[in-house]
Amino acid sequence: MIKSIILAAGKGTRMKSDMPKVLHTIFDKPLVGYVIDAVNNTGLTDESFVIVGHKAEQVEEYVHNNYTNAKCILQTPQLGTGHAVSMALPYLKDFEGDVIVLCGDTPLITSENLKKFINQHREKKSDITVMSAIFDNPSNYGRIIRNPDGSVNSIVEEKDANPEQKAVKEINAGIYCINWGKVKAAFADLKNNNAQGEYYLTDIIQWGNEHNLAVNAYTLSDNTEIYGINSRANLAEASKILNNRTLNKLMAEGVTIVDPFTTWISPETEIDSDTIIYPSCYINGKNKIGKYCKIGPFAHLRGDVVLGDYVKIGNFVEVKKTTIKSHTNACHLTYLGDSEVGANVNIGAGTITANYNPLTKVKSKTIIKDNVKIGSNSVLVAPVTIEEGANVGAVGVITKSIPAWALAITRAPLRIIENWVKKQN
Ligand code: UD1
Ligand code: CA
Repeated sequence: MIKSIILAAGKGTRMKSDMPKVLHTIFDKPLVGYVIDAVNNTGLTDESFVIVGHKAEQVEEYVHNNYTNAKCILQTPQLGTGHAVSMALPYLKDFEGDVIVLCGDTPLITSENLKKFINQHREKKSDITVMSAIFDNPSNYGRIIRNPDGSVNSIVEEKDANPEQKAVKEINAGIYCINWGKVKAAFADLKNNNAQGEYYLTDIIQWGNEHNLAVNAYTLSDNTEIYGINSRANLAEASKILNNRTLNKLMAEGVTIVDPFTTWISPETEIDSDTIIYPSCYINGKNKIGKYCKIGPFAHLRGDVVLGDYVKIGNFVEVKKTTIKSHTNACHLTYLGDSEVGANVNIGAGTITANYNPLTKVKSKTIIKDNVKIGSNSVLVAPVTIEEGANVGAVGVITKSIPAWALAITRAPLRIIENWVKKQN
């Protein structure tokens, strides 16, 4: 199995943030999480080392709490990308297989692309493969210098490049596949006699050539794969790119997205064909939506939402951690949280599941069985069960469970006082 090293020690000054850059999020998932997931989803790796430095404890806490096969290694001080990778040497002393190196701030890398990259490395029997891309404006990137036979000769950083090298439009994407057994000796030979006074990982390319190793490039067809985050504007752009990928995939699978420009759907949301998503919906987290559903306009799904077929979630409806069976409607102004809702249920406008007790900080469940009708403006104070077929009259405040087929009414009876207005003075 392959090991991965993810570089994430840098400061990210341009984010203007108290947080480490790689903990900034897209759809509430940290950037470094996207990279670890892409690596894990190749199915070709079994362990990742995340090189941390700036605000290391915070990154370490996230990685530790979310991944069992990833370990953080502290790099302090940060003397360059080559120095960063060398931090993993003690952990990979006896390892002879391939290692992939990536950056923690390129969240749009996909496992499909990484698999192709690794396959090319294996097919060409390369010792080092560097991922490259062709950029119209290559400034600030390291330039790929090729040998006449097409193999890679070296990578020259912008700051060290002569005018001829600067004109090269093929850039180093910063992702490498390395035959660790053969290349690990390179790290002891790295020098920092360059424009930035850093130990450059890119110098292993020239070292490989000097040691008669096979050094090749894998050139990207989709440059968004390596879109890097350096600023808040980059973060917004990356979110947009990721969202568009998801929307395009869903549309290709038969989902109608009425207005892709105002629709946000997380990559972990599955939607069956012939469902319609109306404008201005925000669908976050992991969700599963069935066929022929109608969602929105202006609906907010917050994750762990499972909808059967023919479910309607209308305007200003928020749903979280809730399962809803088929043919159920919640069409207007409703909050459903920590709930199980059956089939053929009608949830009236303005219904709220009061799932959270702010005094005890405990969240409780609301269970609504098949064929229930909840009248408008009702509050279901959890934990509570509305048994099959029961009706709750409008403005119900339901604090205990309602038996099957019963009617529950909690409102004060209507009083009409004739001519009351005229009698006032
Ligand atoms: C690097 C490459 C460049 C490539 C570019 C792609 C080198 C010398 N140059 O340049 O060829 O085109 O990436 O984006 O490698 N980091 C550490 N510890 C360090 C230094 C950096 O963990 O001591 C991490 C950073 O947090 C970042 C990554 O390594 O995630 C890349 O570092 P950065 O300084 O951004 O490299 P570039 O100068 O962009
Ligand atoms: Ca740098």
